[in-house]
Amino acid sequence: MWFTSDNASGAAPEIMAAVQAANAGYARSYGADALMDQVRAQIRAAFEAPEAAVYLVATGTVANALSLAISCPPWGAVFCHTHAHIAEDECGAPEFYMHGAKLVLVAGDHGKMDPAALSMAIEKAKGSGVHGVQPAAVSITNVTEAGTVYSVAEVAALAAIGRAHGLAVHLDGARFANALVATGATPAEMTWKAGIDVLSFGGTKNGCMGVEAVVIFDPAKAWEFELRRKRGGHLASKHRFLSAQMTGYLEDGLWLRLAAHANAMGARMTRGLSQMPDVALVHPVGANILFPEWGLGTHARLEAAGAAYYPFTAPAGRERARLVTSWSTTEADVDNFLTALRG
Ligand SMILES: Cc1ncc(COP(=O)(O)O)c(C=O)c1O
Repeated sequence: MWFTSDNASGAAPEIMAAVQAANAGYARSYGADALMDQVRAQIRAAFEAPEAAVYLVATGTVANALSLAISCPPWGAVFCHTHAHIAEDECGAPEFYMHGAKLVLVAGDHGKMDPAALSMAIEKAKGSGVHGVQPAAVSITNVTEAGTVYSVAEVAALAAIGRAHGLAVHLDGARFANALVATGATPAEMTWKAGIDVLSFGGTKNGCMGVEAVVIFDPAKAWEFELRRKRGGHLASKHRFLSAQMTGYLEDGLWLRLAAHANAMGARMTRGLSQMPDVALVHPVGANILFPEWGLGTHARLEAAGAAYYPFTAPAGRERARLVTSWSTTEADVDNFLTALRG
């Protein structure tokens, strides 16, 4: 009954086997390993993007921060949702790597930026001339921090607003695989075909040990990314172990199978919760993150039964939780939780 986060899960056996296999003998360092050639080819094929530049880093935070640093000058503005991970959970890393650029928060229900609010925020920033930060990029998160999923059309609509103003568009895809299987879209449809310039492509939350890819659809930005990654201290010397995780992840569609399982467990939990009269879901569940709300005393009862998750601030007289299912969640985990909740 461990639902704190999908990064509380271990690594999938296939990923561990790929890392073990990569341990034999010698390999070139700093990203010049043969496995990285394989990763590049796999990602270019999966995204139908033969020119894309592909790099690996160890955390989602640095994938986002470096992606934004190549998209925005120090005097620029990045438009993102009020509760975007880059705004609330990265300790200022994006601003740090962008050398002081500003995140401008855009409201919207259920974790999704409202297109009209995005347009207004960009127009307002443009109107401030030399006194304000200059609009430079839009950052979209899919799966959102509220556990909802943007459709391809919704991503394309936000990207089109940014592009109409000449802005770069970044997608925080820490849970990109979960969003893809939820929508049935292809990787190309969810990214460059929808107007995305740079993608943070998550692996860690979906069964890897610790690897994220940055996929840059405009290769003109590639060298700058390489320099910033090295300067920022994120070019791994024993890079083959990052490459091995990513090749294992992409091999035979493992990444999509793991995400489909996590989402199926999310759907199983959603069905169970929906049948309980005192339980309400704060946001529609799109993939593997749920925000249920229930009566006082429930946290204590669930904790006593051995359930682990994060409690959230709730209106008076109620309690809220965030539950995250993962590639390793079992049906029994979900059913035991629901039984404990029923009391
Ligand atoms: C949407 C989103 N983006 C980025 C990250 C950052 O990942 P990391 O914790 O590996 O830096 C997370 C992690 O929780 C996340 O949920």
